Amino acid sequence: APPLKIGIAGLGTVGAGVVRMLARRAEAIAARVGRPVEVVAISARDRSRNRDCDLSGLRWYDDAVELARDPDIDVFVELIGGPDGTAKAAVEAAIAAGHSVVTANKALLAHHGVALAAAAEAAGVAIHFEAAVAGGIPVIKTLREALLGNEIARVSGILNGTCNYILTRMQEEGLSFDICLDQAQKLGYAEADPTFDVDGFDTAHKLALLAALAFGVQPDPEAIHIEGIRSITLADIEAADELGYRIKLLGVAARIGGQVELRVHPTMVPKHWPIAQVSGVTNAVAIDGDAVALTLVGPGAGGDATASAVVADLCDAAAARGGAPFGWKASSLQPAEKAAIRRH
Ligand code: NDP
Ligand code: HSE
Repeated sequence: APPLKIGIAGLGTVGAGVVRMLARRAEAIAARVGRPVEVVAISARDRSRNRDCDLSGLRWYDDAVELARDPDIDVFVELIGGPDGTAKAAVEAAIAAGHSVVTANKALLAHHGVALAAAAEAAGVAIHFEAAVAGGIPVIKTLREALLGNEIARVSGILNGTCNYILTRMQEEGLSFDICLDQAQKLGYAEADPTFDVDGFDTAHKLALLAALAFGVQPDPEAIHIEGIRSITLADIEAADELGYRIKLLGVAARIGGQVELRVHPTMVPKHWPIAQVSGVTNAVAIDGDAVALTLVGPGAGGDATASAVVADLCDAAAARGGAPFGWKASSLQPAEKAAIRRH
């Protein structure tokens, strides 16, 4: 089958991670989805920046919107960020050009997801956004596919890696808020504008997307009660500790009566509860369905973890264009006698 040709706009923490992962896993991905997934075009601001990945032979665009319109790509990958501006214009241009979109941009989808989804439906293309919520945790697929038979009562948890990293290091090492935030930025966890993280907006954006999937409500960040962690002091953390609690920034989306309640705020969680022990950049998402209740725990931010989710979406996009119903292409499934399955 012909390769799935992709154009990537944004080659920062996530974008460069995706280029590296696609190169590293090229053979296995081609075998799994039945066709190679190839980066053919890219866009970023600074051509001279070292990105620790091989960009040779790729078409470079200074303008991400032009890349989005490139007729020789199948899928446009938006990894620039921000609710408006170039990211939005480029995603709109990609849809208008008939390209499916993969994005990690929760701010964009929380604010404009309904309009973008309508445009995509009209154009007959897909928008994939597994990476937009909880980094490497496959929570979008879980809600959209695996738990489809459930009526969901509540989705809640730790949805921002930067805040959980800051609170953990303040708790465990007594470091100041500013030092911890600086470190989270250096590690590539924080948003370009870290206000989104520490003031709770990023958690709210993710919560809006989870609520859309779980309850069928339009994402609307304005409807969410939002309180961040900026005012949490070491003294607050110590006082909570003495009382037997950890402070966590939680997002909660719950069906209450005929309504859906959405809130983001620091919460005192008893130390012995599993969610209190979720530390560092790790996220945890608890889903209460009427048949299945579960908690997904995993890396919530960072280049490799987020690239993992973007690559999964690219594989879905490739599979939708003639891929493999078993996940593996049938011809690459190992015969049972050769497979590493122990026979009884
Ligand atoms: P970075 O700031 O590391 O990278 C952003 C990239 O976008 C840079 O390569 C930058 O170019 C490029 N860029 C900025 N403006 C433009 C423009 N006008 N045209 C073309 N390229 C542009 O961000 P991240 O990789 O951290 O985040 C990307 C997206 O992924 C965001 O939506 C974020 O919310 C989301 N996300 C991030 C996670 C993380 O852990 N970092 C986790 C989950 C989601 P240049 O390099 O030249 O400056
Ligand atoms: N800034 C975000 C976080 C990135 O820290 O969780 C992952 O969405």
